[in-house]
Amino acid sequence: MKIIRTIEELQNIRKTITSSVGFVPTMGALHDGHISLIKQAREENEIVIVSIFVNPTQFLPGEDLDAYPRKDEADKKICEMCKVDYLFMPEISTMYGKEEVLIKAPNKSYMLEGEARPGHFDGVLLVVLKLFGLTQPTNAYFGKKDAQQLSLITQMVKDLFLPINVVACDIVRENDGLAMSSRNIYLDQTQRKDALLLSKSLYTAASLIAKDERDTKTIKNKIHEVMEKLDVEYVAIVDREFNEIQTIELNNCIILIVVRFGNTRLLDNIWL
Ligand code: PAJ
Repeated sequence: MKIIRTIEELQNIRKTITSSVGFVPTMGALHDGHISLIKQAREENEIVIVSIFVNPTQFLPGEDLDAYPRKDEADKKICEMCKVDYLFMPEISTMYGKEEVLIKAPNKSYMLEGEARPGHFDGVLLVVLKLFGLTQPTNAYFGKKDAQQLSLITQMVKDLFLPINVVACDIVRENDGLAMSSRNIYLDQTQRKDALLLSKSLYTAASLIAKDERDTKTIKNKIHEVMEKLDVEYVAIVDREFNEIQTIELNNCIILIVVRFGNTRLLDNIWL
């Protein structure tokens, strides 16, 4: 595995690759969720590129940019084990200049995650577009865990006519159901236990739907009931384009929840 730190190096290497490229962008502190994306990329492409870059433009003032977990050495070993060909680990000054073209995500990026973090998705799309330009992937791998991010990246690829196949990967969970996240390490013991109510509420919703419940209001109420003792930020039921829906449409429906544990926000969702 080769570690790349500069734009020039990456561009020169990319020029020499004529076969399929699988690309997995990450912010590091890699866990089994990231690893499942990398493994899928490994299976489906000749060359695999992973990036680790804690992207400042997607953090709002006061968010955890400085505290965001960094585990460069462990991450390098994981990538090596997963037979990654190129690991791109740029500095902030490598990725950003003083003044530059910005990307504006569509208005719907200011709801749900974007309502709590206005401008977050502008930063995500900007860095992902830069990384796409550098790696020019055949296939790019994203987790369903960050459903709204995945939806906006899919839309960007479509709207900007980028010749990239966006691959949506299933959520990887701990054995007890908690969706894996680099931010789970912020939880204390009690919060870690309470966090199980997130997946539990989603499973409860899924079983209601399996019993033919279709009214999203009833389903949302049930979810709130299961998570009663938590600081729930939102429960939303949307279609794949992220429009809120009143009636469940199977195969075109995502239930999203966000819960606050102190300063930590945990996301979970289920795709029906
Ligand atoms: P990061 O949070 O490091 O996540 C990198 C990728 O891993 C994302 O596509 C995310 O959805 C996926 N992922 C995280 N946890 C997962 C889980 N439990 N199961 C499956 N996939 C999971 O998302 C970002 O970084 C950044 O916003 C990025 C796209 C790299 C742009 O900076």
